Amino acid sequence: MSTPVIFGSDHAGFALKEQLKAFASKLGVQVVDVGCDSLQSCDYPLFAEKLCSRVLADKCLGVLICGTGLGMSMAANRRAGIRAALCANEYMARMTRLHNNANVLCLGERWMGAGLAESVLETFIKTEFEGGRHQRRIDLFDSL
Ligand code: RB5
Repeated sequence: MSTPVIFGSDHAGFALKEQLKAFASKLGVQVVDVGCDSLQSCDYPLFAEKLCSRVLADKCLGVLICGTGLGMSMAANRRAGIRAALCANEYMARMTRLHNNANVLCLGERWMGAGLAESVLETFIKTEFEGGRHQRRIDLFDSL
């Protein structure tokens, strides 16, 4: 079975998450959703935590969506081994995979249209880490 992409959101990212899951499935991606499951108000750090655990266990990519993308990125980046990137466009998505080996993409439903979000997600999923000097630099995250 192919490596899954894990999706998580709070209530403010739930609708965009549903759209992006359908889009990712059409790309042939195996989709896993760790919640939330409705528009009912909930606390985004709980879902960031669940998603990060799956991403680390499965060594795969994840997508976290809240209203802004900011809270999710802050919560996710507290976990060792998680490199979460809030991306506003395709350039940021491409560069954070090439240079930072980001393993979690953060998106904000309240400012980002679904078309842009799809394009950012596709870029993130399809871009491979360059390694080399960039591996040395991200290794410093854990050794300073
Ligand atoms: C929820 O209102 C909102 O605060 C949350 O989705 C997120 O944007 C936090 O950073």
